[in-house]
Amino acid sequence: MSPRKSISQRDLPAANASAAGITRRRSTQDESGALALIPAKPSLPNVREAAADCRACDLWKNATQTVFGEGNKHARVMLVGEQPGDREDMIGSPFVGPAGMLLDRALEAAGIDRKQVYVTNVVKHFKWTPAERGKRRIHKKPRASEIQACRPWLDVEIQLVKPEVLVCLGATAAQALLGKTFSVTRSRGEFVSSTLAPYVMATIHPSALLRLPEGADRAAETDRLVADLKKVALDLPKQAKVV
Ligand code: URA
Ligand code: SF4
Repeated sequence: MSPRKSISQRDLPAANASAAGITRRRSTQDESGALALIPAKPSLPNVREAAADCRACDLWKNATQTVFGEGNKHARVMLVGEQPGDREDMIGSPFVGPAGMLLDRALEAAGIDRKQVYVTNVVKHFKWTPAERGKRRIHKKPRASEIQACRPWLDVEIQLVKPEVLVCLGATAAQALLGKTFSVTRSRGEFVSSTLAPYVMATIHPSALLRLPEGADRAAETDRLVADLKKVALDLPKQAKVV
């Protein structure tokens, strides 16, 4: 059995208003979900465009925009986070806020060029709650139903990019992609068997590092993230090397 089912029109019976050049009315979207929005001949640009109008769960209501994945369309490595944060929501790109900066530094330290990877999230809209005082928007964990509603977008990204290595950043991505019982604490940095890509690994989310007090602990944990990412760069067969 092929690990990746190709997306064909046959697989998407409810498709497809956008391919037919019809602008789907928002009110009709809820029943069909994100899958029905995916163009019959998906490409990263047309899927990104379709995702911009997604209302398959309620998260779009309090967010600025859909934050779709970005990066090299032939990337050998795909990094999957949880959901965009405050800054990502405003800018419209994944991992461009504080966690993204930390990720960039970790990738660089591991010898991986961010331009060579594809970065995305399991949920494409920022979920937040207002701070008790002040105007800050506090990140809120997505629900299983929201992760499920958003999954078609991630699946089509994986199908189009066909990464050799998929790295789940944090428990939300790891459990969405590897099962509810997957423990990042127990299995971080290990390549695990999955049909999603030839090599799949989970590691700590850079936001978790930011929650540690600055100092020795954070530095040590950052080193561990770099060590995991180094495995991605080095522990692959030659043709899969990313640097
Ligand atoms: N955290 C994530 O999981 N994803 C982002 O894009 C930014 C922060
Ligand atoms: Fe659609 Fe995902 Fe946004 Fe929900 S979070 S509206 S499923 S893009």
